[in-house]
Amino acid sequence: MSKDNHGREIDYLRISVTDRCNLRCLYCMPEDGVTWKPHDSILTIEEIERLVRIAAAEGFSRIRLTGGEPLVRLGIVDLVRSVVKTAGIESVAMTTNGLLLPQMAEQLKQAGLQRVNISLDTLDPEQFTYITRRGKIEDVFAGIEADLAVGFNPVKINAVVVRSLNQDLLTFAKLSFDRPLHVRFIEYMPVGDSCGSGGTGWTEADTIPNDELVSMLNALAIADGIGPLLPIAKTKSPQGWGPAQYYQFDGAKGTVGFISALSRHFCSECNRLRVTAEGQLRPCLFSDLEYDLRTALRAGDDASVQETLRRALKAKPDSHHHRVGTERLMSQIGG
Ligand code: GTP
Ligand code: 5AD
Ligand code: SF4
Repeated sequence: MSKDNHGREIDYLRISVTDRCNLRCLYCMPEDGVTWKPHDSILTIEEIERLVRIAAAEGFSRIRLTGGEPLVRLGIVDLVRSVVKTAGIESVAMTTNGLLLPQMAEQLKQAGLQRVNISLDTLDPEQFTYITRRGKIEDVFAGIEADLAVGFNPVKINAVVVRSLNQDLLTFAKLSFDRPLHVRFIEYMPVGDSCGSGGTGWTEADTIPNDELVSMLNALAIADGIGPLLPIAKTKSPQGWGPAQYYQFDGAKGTVGFISALSRHFCSECNRLRVTAEGQLRPCLFSDLEYDLRTALRAGDDASVQETLRRALKAKPDSHHHRVGTERLMSQIGG
C-alpha cells in the first residue's frame, strides 16, 4: 500500500469514465452549453485498463467507476470485467444515477462488479424532474430495484441535501426501514462554480451541516413515533471505502449515513486519488492541481505512468482547507 506525505494509506482510485450524462442535475452541470470533451480526448477502455494494471502494482486495490454517468460509456461492462480480473484489484464498485441499471445490472453483476451506489436526491417526482432537469423518478426506482434484485451488496442511495430545496428527509431516511437500503445524506458542496453551482445560485449557506441535519431528522422521527437515529460503530457499518458515518433506526434493515464534506471534513482519513475522463490525475477533489496521465498512457510509457502516480500521491494536500469551487464541473470529476 502506498503512503502519502501525511501518513495516509492511499489505495482507492476513483476513475471517471465519461463526462457525459443522461441527466443534467442542477448542481452538477449547466442545462446546455456543456461542451462534451471530444471522444479522442477521453481515455479509451484499453488506456483505462492499462492505468488500472499500473495502479494495482502501486498498491491501489479498490476501484470506483464514476462519470458523468458511467453506464452511458460504451464498453463499460467489458471494462468492469477486465478491471475485476486485474491482479491486485480486490474490489470494484460504481456510482451511477441508476437509469440504465434495469437493463445492465445483471451483466454488470456477471462481470464481477461488487456494489453500486445510486444518486437520488428526492422522492418527489416533480422535484426530481426539477433537480435533474429531465429525469423520471420511476426510472431511478426501477434502478434501485435492479440493484437489490441482482444481489449487489450493500445498496446505497446518495442524496445531496440542499437547504433551499426543502427535501422530505424523513420519508427518505425511512426507506432504510423495511429493506436493506443505506440512505446517505451528503452535504452540498459548492463545486464547479463557474457554471455548476454558479448557475443554481446555491452557496455554502445551502449546505446543511450534518449535526443540524441529524437533529432535524431526530425531531421528525420522534414526532413520527419511530424514535431517533442511533449511531452505529464503524465495524457494524455497511461496507464502504468512503467517509460516511452511519446511524440506524431501531429495528431497521438498512442504515442512514451522513457525509460531511464541509462541516467536519474527513481529509485526515482520505484514502483516494481521482482520475478524470481525460486522464488527469487529481490529488484532491477541491484542488485544480492535476497530473497528466494520458500522454504517457498513449505512448505506452508505463514507467512514466507509475512515476506520475507517485508524484500525485506525494502532492496530496493534508486538507482541502475549506477551499470550495473548482474550475471543473462535478460531472467532469466524478464526485
Ligand atoms: P462507499 O465506498 O460506498 O463509502 O462510497 P464513497 O462515499 O466513497 O463514494 P460515492 O461515489 O458514493 O460518493 C459519495 C459522496 O462522497 C459524493 O458526494 C462524493 O462527491 C463525496 N466524496 C467522495 N470522495 C470525496 C472526497 O475525497 N472529498 C470530498 N469532499 N467528498 C468526497
Ligand atoms: N455536492 C455534493 N455531492 C455532489 N455530487 C455531485 N455533485 C455534488 C455536489 N456539488 C454527488 C452525486 C453523486 C456523487 C458521485 O457525488 O450526487 O452521488
Ligand atoms: Fe449526471 Fe450524476 Fe451529475 Fe446528475 S450528479 S448530472 S446524474 S453525473
